[in-house]
Order: sequence, then structure tokens, then C-alpha cells
Amino acid sequence: MNALNKRSLLKAVALSAVTLATLAACGKKEEAPAPAAAPAAAPAADKLKIGFMYVSPIGDGGWTFQHDLGRKAIQEKFAGKVETSFVESVPESADAERVLRDMAGQGNKLIFATSFGFQEYVQKVAADLPDVKFEHATGYKQAANVATYDTKTFEGAYLAGIVAGGMTKTKTVGVVASVPIPEVVRNINSFVLGAQSVDPSIKAKVVWVNEWFSPPKEAEAATSLINRGVDVMYQNTNSPAVLKTAEERGARAFGKDGDMSAFAPKAHLGSAVVDWTPYYSKVVEDTLAGNWQGGNFWWGVKEGAIDLLKIADDVPQEIKDRVEKARAGLKDGSFAVWTGPIKDNTGKELLAAGQVADLPFLTGINFYVAGVEGKVPGAEGK
Ligand code: GUN
Repeated sequence: MNALNKRSLLKAVALSAVTLATLAACGKKEEAPAPAAAPAAAPAADKLKIGFMYVSPIGDGGWTFQHDLGRKAIQEKFAGKVETSFVESVPESADAERVLRDMAGQGNKLIFATSFGFQEYVQKVAADLPDVKFEHATGYKQAANVATYDTKTFEGAYLAGIVAGGMTKTKTVGVVASVPIPEVVRNINSFVLGAQSVDPSIKAKVVWVNEWFSPPKEAEAATSLINRGVDVMYQNTNSPAVLKTAEERGARAFGKDGDMSAFAPKAHLGSAVVDWTPYYSKVVEDTLAGNWQGGNFWWGVKEGAIDLLKIADDVPQEIKDRVEKARAGLKDGSFAVWTGPIKDNTGKELLAAGQVADLPFLTGINFYVAGVEGKVPGAEGK
């Protein structure tokens, strides 16, 4: 797992101001070409050109920052064989289609689109460009030249939930949620299941911001949770705004996707960090060998794609041991987060004791587990 060091995070914070200034322009950046004198470097024309399309700025400190670490890792690992570039802050709209076509027009033969809402644009452009391979993070639609991939972020949420369960004093945890898709609902529930594994009486509140990246809205949502009695928060948004709000208000919170410890040293309880590098390395290796696979990949703790890092010093050892036990079980396959008995918040049993959720169950979650207040947006009235 590539944990970020503090210096790179602080650099990211500094960068984010610049990055945000170019947000509307969808800033495009290219890696500096290899020095012309390097004898071992292949001519640029022979290099595999790889494009990355990001929904938020690389200085977000979370989701996109982490994808970009993966990009940098493959740039280094396959130096001389690949040339990577990225476009950041691309809205999940027709802009995405334009950026994808532009990337392909510039000779990129492998394109990573790293947000759920890019799905329809990837499908449309890929159908027109059969010679280009597309990789769509977190989507569910594949094609001959479109693979989908994701990490089991819910496993990180569960491990964070265990820590939350050991640290909440109000017995009310909260989640700032982004876009209401099964992935995000699964993460909310997994966080709550982790907390309730420590104390079954724990309740949870959720506030939706309906965006992946909006630091002001994320902060507002966190404030409203704290005002309603929440003292430990998780988030499925891209920035450290929830953590920063916790720091200001004397609450506790987690980093997600990236190591966010440097943003809120007092509030930070741990970061559920995603490492995209193993998957990106595999895809590039396959593509360079003329063996791009396609398909659907979902890697978790077992594959080293997600883990809870930097657990705070004041978390009791007994809680840290519980995290370690769950992590070990996820690694060796003896434990699954979604194992019954699990009821929804109307009292309906969804998984019987000992029953382990299958893939259709996991990818279709649109309910809250018992103890979570309210209804999933879009599932109201069902
Ligand atoms: N786009 C930005 N952040 C996310 C995320 O957490 N999940 C998905 N599916 N897409 C995103």
C-alpha cells in the first residue's frame, strides 16, 4: 500500500489552490517527455500513450489524488514505454465525451475514466473507437473495448466503522454522502455495520450533498451532522472538508481514498486509503504485451487495493485488535463484511444468520441497515 507522506500531502494542499483556479478550464497536463539524450528511451511514437480523465482536481487529497498517484507510479514503472497525461475537473456531462474524443485524437490508446458518472460517455465514445481501450472506474457496463474496475471501498469503510464504534461517545455516527448509487449506500452501511460490531446500539445519520467534490457543501453537511449529535463522521466525498470541519468543532472523522491525516491531525482517526497502482500496473503490462483483457475487476483488502491506515494513537488497543482481526479475515477470505444476520432499517431481514451476500446483492444495495435514520434518496416510497 502506497501511503502518502506528509510532505506530498502538504504539497497537494498548496497545489490545490492552483488546481482549483484552473477548474473551469479542465486543465490538461502532460508528463515531461524523457530527455532526448537518454539512449535507452524508445522514440515517442513507440510509446503507449495513456490518458486519465478525472472528475475533481488532483489536489483534492482523496479520490483523484489517489488515481493520480497510480498514474505517476505506472509512468515511473514503465518509463520509456508509456507516456501518460491527464485532464482534471471534468464534469460528468457532455464535457466528458469531448475530453475522451480529444484524448483519443491525441493518440492515447488506453484511457482511464475515473468517475461513475462518466459511464454513458465512455460507452458512446468507445463504440466509435474500437482501436482504443477504455477502462472505467466503478461502472458496470463493459464492452469489447471497455473494462470496468473498482476497489472494495466498503471494506475500508467497515474497518473505519470499527474504530468509530470504539470512539463515539454520543453513540451516534454520521456520514457525508455524495451521489446516491449502490456503491455509496454500501459504504455508508458498511461503516455503520463496523461501528455496530463494537456496540449494536449505535445509530447513524446521513447527509447527501449530491456531488463528488464540493468542499463547501461537504463542510456544511458535516456541520449539520455535528449539530445533530454526531461525534464521529465518515464521508464518501472527495475532499478533506469533513475532517477539517471535525477539527474545528472538536469532533472526529476519517480520511477516505487518500491519507488525509495531515489535514486534521487532532480529528483524524484513520484513513481508508485506496491504492490503484496494482491494477494500473496490471492493465499497462497486459496492454504492452498486446494482451489487454477487458472484463470487470473488483479488488479489496485481499489484493492490497484498500486498507485503513494511520489509526490514531488514542484509539484503544482493544479496538485496534478488532480492526486487525477483521483485516486478517478479509485478507484470508475467512470474513466477509456482508454476513447475516442483517436487517434494513424497517426491520426486514435481508441476510439470514451466516448468509454471505453475493455479487448481485452487493451491487444492488439501495436500503439503509438497521440503526441508520431515514431513507435512501430515490428509494423513498418503496
Ligand atoms: N467519482 C469521484 N469520487 C467517486 C467515488 O468515490 N466513487 C465513484 N464511483 N465515482 C467517484
